Amino acid sequence: MKNTGIKNNVTWHRAAVTREMREKQNGHKSVVVWFTGLSSSGKSTIAHAVEEQMHQIGCKTFVFDGDNVRHGLNKNLGFSRDDRKENIRRIGEMCKLFIEAGVIALTAFISPYREDRNMIRQMVKENDFIEIYCKCSIDVCESRDKKGIYLKARKGEIPEFTGISAPYEIPENPEMVIDTKNMSIEECVNKVMNYLSNKGIIHNSHKMSIEIPS
Ligand code: ADX
Repeated sequence: MKNTGIKNNVTWHRAAVTREMREKQNGHKSVVVWFTGLSSSGKSTIAHAVEEQMHQIGCKTFVFDGDNVRHGLNKNLGFSRDDRKENIRRIGEMCKLFIEAGVIALTAFISPYREDRNMIRQMVKENDFIEIYCKCSIDVCESRDKKGIYLKARKGEIPEFTGISAPYEIPENPEMVIDTKNMSIEECVNKVMNYLSNKGIIHNSHKMSIEIPS
């Protein structure tokens, strides 16, 4: 069949306002900062704390995390191998759109499988995927567990629970490891901010040029 660029009668609409134009206007690059680690390893806490810092210096950001996405977009998905893959795939597609929109997407999903994380790395352009492993032993994660979810999993009430009855595959080559057992939240946030700044993704001196009245 002749390649018409049309698949299933759907064509890609090329926007007049490009990612590069948006990045220039925003004064920072758009990437996905992908936090991965066990439940209660600190992914969400660090992602939100990093977002707060970024917001203060005028960056456009958004945090996706397991709890909010699984209540809406992915509410039809569970925790089987296939469902976790689909969960991550949809989030990856969403992050890709956010990158096009010039936004820094921060994600906080266990994302326990290397294959799934690498799928996102392949989906976006090189250097657009920053994988951060929140390193924390399972006993510390269990001791932090506010939801009592590990307790339930130990009793066998939650099947295929990551770290107990389902695997967590440690990243082999992440852009960064943050040791959330031994480092304070502030130290973790600084490490992430410094990395992004050194890579020229954000500029710590970047300030909002327009004061928004409260
Ligand atoms: S992922 O594996 O598909 O990336 P995700 O980050 O979206 O997981 O959701 C993890 C959260 O769902 C956990 O913090 C926990 O509160 C809850 N959860 C419920 N069942 C499970 C399970 N079987 N394994 C891991 N987390 C679970």
